[in-house]
Amino acid sequence: NKPLTIAIDGYSACGKSTLARALAKRLGYSYIDTGAMYRAVTLHLQRQNVDLDDEGAVAGAMQSLRITFRPSDNHVLLNGEDVESEIRGLAVSKLVSPVAALSIVRRAMVEQQRQMGKDGGVILDGRDIGTVVFPDADLKLFVTADLDTRVDRRLRELRGAGREVQRVDVAANLEERDYIDSHRDDSPLRQADDAILLDNTDLGLDELVDRGAALVADLR
Ligand code: C5P
Repeated sequence: NKPLTIAIDGYSACGKSTLARALAKRLGYSYIDTGAMYRAVTLHLQRQNVDLDDEGAVAGAMQSLRITFRPSDNHVLLNGEDVESEIRGLAVSKLVSPVAALSIVRRAMVEQQRQMGKDGGVILDGRDIGTVVFPDADLKLFVTADLDTRVDRRLRELRGAGREVQRVDVAANLEERDYIDSHRDDSPLRQADDAILLDNTDLGLDELVDRGAALVADLR
């Protein structure tokens, strides 16, 4: 059983990370949440008040940035600081897609992701994993669900974490991110030609995970 590389892409709040985390656990693989990396970059630039139109300033700020994952709980660390909770709020969510559209940011993240995943036995979720980061992945899944379902899920998640958020704001953020992510020039979100589409509008997350697991089993 050679260790596989599994790429999971799709729209915002579609169940990708739930699927990725559950599959990684079943297989004993590591899970790399690439969205968390772009969120951590965004927080870093926000804290330093970097003007996103100023390429030199963005490049400078990227020099003082180190993103790691804490092995014990997979929390994302920004220069050693646990920012897992802070990056999930709306302030970061509102700025992350413009930040992730910058080539200078993508280059650094993609390089780090390839490095982290080079030995296989890994599941990455994001927007460009099957198209750009690991175009030769053993299994590519593209996850989607209709917008209402995704808004409901994200709202439950955020409120479950004690955040006071309005449905309209969450819906607007998901729609706006999907639009920017799919229309940027560098590595736009799209389904890879050889990716398997999983629409989970009418599936529970458990069923989504079962389906993913069945697809992995088919490979072996
Ligand atoms: O996965 P998550 O919703 O946390 O990702 C946050 C944002 O990070 C996305 O809306 C997208 O702009 C960016 N992203 C990306 N490429 C990835 C993962 C995330 O551009 N591989």
